Amino acid sequence: MKTQVAIIGGGPSGLLLAQLLHRRGIDSVVLERKTKDYVLGRIRAGVLEQGLVQLMQEAGCADRLHAEGLVHDGTLISYGDTMFRIDFTEHTGTPVIVYGQTEVTRDLYAAREQAGGATEFNVDNVVIRGADTDACHVTYTVHGQARRIDCDFVAGCDGFHGVSRQTIPLDVRCEYEKVYPFGWLGILSETPPVNHELIYANSPRGFALCSMRNDNLSRYYIQCSLSDKPDDWTDEAFWQELKRRIPADQAARLVTGPSIEKSIAPLRSFVTEPMRWGRLFLCGDAAHIVPPTGAKGLNTAASDVHYLYNGLRDFYENGSSAGIDSYSQKALARVWKAERFSWWFSSLMHRYPDQSEFDLKMQVADLEFLRTNMAAQKAMAENYIGLPY
Ligand code: APR
Ligand code: PHB
Repeated sequence: MKTQVAIIGGGPSGLLLAQLLHRRGIDSVVLERKTKDYVLGRIRAGVLEQGLVQLMQEAGCADRLHAEGLVHDGTLISYGDTMFRIDFTEHTGTPVIVYGQTEVTRDLYAAREQAGGATEFNVDNVVIRGADTDACHVTYTVHGQARRIDCDFVAGCDGFHGVSRQTIPLDVRCEYEKVYPFGWLGILSETPPVNHELIYANSPRGFALCSMRNDNLSRYYIQCSLSDKPDDWTDEAFWQELKRRIPADQAARLVTGPSIEKSIAPLRSFVTEPMRWGRLFLCGDAAHIVPPTGAKGLNTAASDVHYLYNGLRDFYENGSSAGIDSYSQKALARVWKAERFSWWFSSLMHRYPDQSEFDLKMQVADLEFLRTNMAAQKAMAENYIGLPY
C-alpha cells in the first residue's frame, strides 16, 4: 500500500489530523492497535479550548459539538469554605466548551467513515522504518498477516505507550518527567451536575473536581492514594468523601446515584524532545503528558495537530518545507507552556504527602492572590481557555 501520510494511532490526535488532511486532498492511512469500540470506551477530560473547536470546524466535524456542547464562561475554585469564580469571558472574551473527549473521537470516526478514509484496526507489530531516509515505510501485521505502507511521512499519534516515540534513537531523544505522589479516582453518574460550572476544590482532605458531560451526566473526581484500587471505593464512600471536600452548600445539594464508570488515573508531567526525527513527527500523548488539572491533554494534542497539519499543507500545496522544519520547535514552545500551567494548577490544588506547614501557607497565599488579584485571574483565564497557537 502507498499513502502520503501514515498515521499511527486512531485516538483523537490521529483522527483529527487524518480528517484535516483529507479535506485538503492529502491522503493518509490510520493504523490503530485496538478496535473502534475500545477507543470509544475510554473516558477522558471534556473541556475544549477555542483552538480545538476551530480545528473541529475546519475538519467539518463541529456540528454536534456546537449543538450539544455546554458553553462555560467561567469556573469555580474553592479552598476550605471559600469559593470564588474566574470569569473567562470577562477576562479574555472567550469561553470554553464542555464536551466529552469520547464524543470528539466519535464525531471524528463518523467523519472518517463518511470520507471513506483508510483505517486499519487490530494492527500489531507496527515498525516505522527508514524515517531518517527517503524510503520511509511502516510494516505491521493484521490477524497475523504482514503488511507494508510506503509513505512520505509518518505521524506518530499513538499515545504515551506507542512505538513512535521509541523509534527516535536514544542519543537524539531527551525526556523530561515528573510523577505526582497521588492519583485521581473518577466516577461518572447519571445525575444532574451539582453546579452549572466546574468546581476545583482544594480541601484539607485533598483535591476534588465536580465536572459534567451534560444536564444528566456528571463526572466527579477525588484525589486518592496511588495504592488505592477502584474497587476499594464503594459509591457510598466516594460520595461521602466528595461531600467532605467541596463547600458545604454545594455538598448539601449534591445529587448522588450509582456510578456507571469508576477508574483511577495516575498524574504525570512528561515531555520528549525533539518532536520530529526525519520523516517522523510525534503528536499528542506520544510526545507529552500533562496531569489532568486544567484539562490540557486533548487541547495540547490539538495544537500539535494544528502545526503539523499546516506544515504538511505547506509542503504539499506550496512545495515548502518551512512548516515541517519548524514543527518541533513551534509545537514544543506551546507544549511547555501547557505543561507549566498544568503543573502549577495541580500544585495549587492538591495536598502532597510531604507538604510542610510552610508549603501549606504558600498554597493558601497563592490561592488568596488568585482570588483577589484581577491580573492573576486574567493570566489563569488566558491559560485555561488556551494560549494562542
Ligand atoms: N500501533 C497502533 N496504534 C497504537 C499503538 C501501536 N503500536 N500504540 C498505541 N496505539 C493507539 C492506541 O490504542 C490509541 O487509540 O494510539 C492511540 C493513541 O490515542 P490517545 O492515547 O488517546 O492519544 P492522542 O490521540 O494523542 O490523544 C491525546 O488523549 O490520552 C488523552 O489526555 C490525552 O486528552 C489527551 C488525548
Ligand atoms: C472532566 O470533565 O473529565 C475534566 C474536566 C476538567 C479537568 C479535568 C477533567 O480539569
